Amino acid sequence: MTGGRSGGVVARSLSKHYGEGNTYVQALSEAGFEIQPGEVVALLGPSGSGKSTLLTILGLINPPSSGWLSIGGQEVIRDGQIVGNANIIRRRELGFVFQRSNLIPFLTAAENVRLVLELDDVPGREARQRARDIMEALGVADRADHLPAQLSGGQQQRVAIARSLIHQPSLLLADEPTASLDKELGRQVMQLFRSAAKDRGAAVLVVTHDQRALDLVDRIFEIEDGVLTVGSEGVAAHSTPGGR
Ligand SMILES: Nc1ncnc2c1ncn2[C@@H]1O[C@H](COP(=O)(O)OP(=O)(O)OP(=O)(O)O)[C@@H](O)[C@H]1O
Ligand SMILES: [Mg+2]
Repeated sequence: MTGGRSGGVVARSLSKHYGEGNTYVQALSEAGFEIQPGEVVALLGPSGSGKSTLLTILGLINPPSSGWLSIGGQEVIRDGQIVGNANIIRRRELGFVFQRSNLIPFLTAAENVRLVLELDDVPGREARQRARDIMEALGVADRADHLPAQLSGGQQQRVAIARSLIHQPSLLLADEPTASLDKELGRQVMQLFRSAAKDRGAAVLVVTHDQRALDLVDRIFEIEDGVLTVGSEGVAAHSTPGGR
């Protein structure tokens, strides 16, 4: 394992523009911040403000126009360019959860969960055990052999979260993961992210319009017209013993 777990995320002057001339959009302006390992941050902002843009940059899906980024103590973007093998960093250091679970429809729940390990050549026996363990922890072990279409929305989302955590990512990125869930499930999902952070040392960044679970995050980042404000601590930061 390169880089170690101590790094969290450090971003410096990340900017992104799209288009030219009259289609030019400055989607992100000089964003700079750190997220510590074990910290859960909510990203709030109106539609079109740059939330997904920031997530796709941090996820090494969409390079920025300029800026610098490190994940898990490893430099991954320098002068707006992805450094090293983005596929490998993405597979080992990053976890993603989307608004819809995006499970592969023809694989069972357990196969979806362990796919990332198999792509990384983890032996089948170990991959199966780790999939069982994490699905157990998320309360979906009894649905291991079901296809995604045979699961409820909340179960699908929990399987997707198991998939995003199985390889113990340094950074977990979630884009409106609770949008399709009711209040109780939405809070449960946020709790699961909290456990991922606190138990496994992941840095977590969650885009949400959901005001109902903000007491479960440590800090809130707000973005408007591409300008990120790194901010205020949530309630959880005050109520967690030893929290920052
Ligand atoms: N591929 C693209 N090409 C051109 N412009 C884009 C592209 N993707 C996003 N934009 C523009 O960049 C700005 C930020 O978009 P982004 O998708 O990051 O917003 P968002 O905060 O995620 O919005 P939402 O809450 O609606 O998902 C918007 O003005 C959008 O129109
Ligand atoms: Mg978006």
